Amino acid sequence: MTPNRSIYVLNGPNLNLLGIREPEIYGRDTLSDIEAACRAAAKPHRLDIDFRQSNSESLMIDWIQEARERAAGVIINAAALSFTSIGILDALQMCTAPIIEVHLSNIHRRESFRHHSYVSRAATGVICGLGAHGYVLAVLRLAELLRR
Ligand code: DQA
Repeated sequence: MTPNRSIYVLNGPNLNLLGIREPEIYGRDTLSDIEAACRAAAKPHRLDIDFRQSNSESLMIDWIQEARERAAGVIINAAALSFTSIGILDALQMCTAPIIEVHLSNIHRRESFRHHSYVSRAATGVICGLGAHGYVLAVLRLAELLRR
């Protein structure tokens, strides 16, 4: 059997507007730029990237349930849903693959309502404040974890 080499990279609400959305906070990279960077980072490790974005909480939950069966690892930036969605937390808690939570901005330097992420309870690790490069670091860490 071929081992599963698929990393799901799931992006939540408003991340489709990266590049034009508050660039002083989120940077000028678009979501397509981030996808390309993830693919480039994954390629030498023979990992596939399944990169998705939705503004819908229910679709995010469906994708996490799919990842439970199909993904070797999950990178998730649930955006504003990180701070509100117990449904996303419950879905992530059913995944046995490693999960890395990413935020472009340093959520702890921002408003207090961004300081508590439900996603973090289910995450193997959390990266925030490193901009688009945080996604690349998440891919590299998953590659390392999956080599073990
Ligand atoms: C974000 C931070 C969240 O607070 C915000 O709601 C987002 C993006 C980030 O990547 O920095 O939409 O997850």
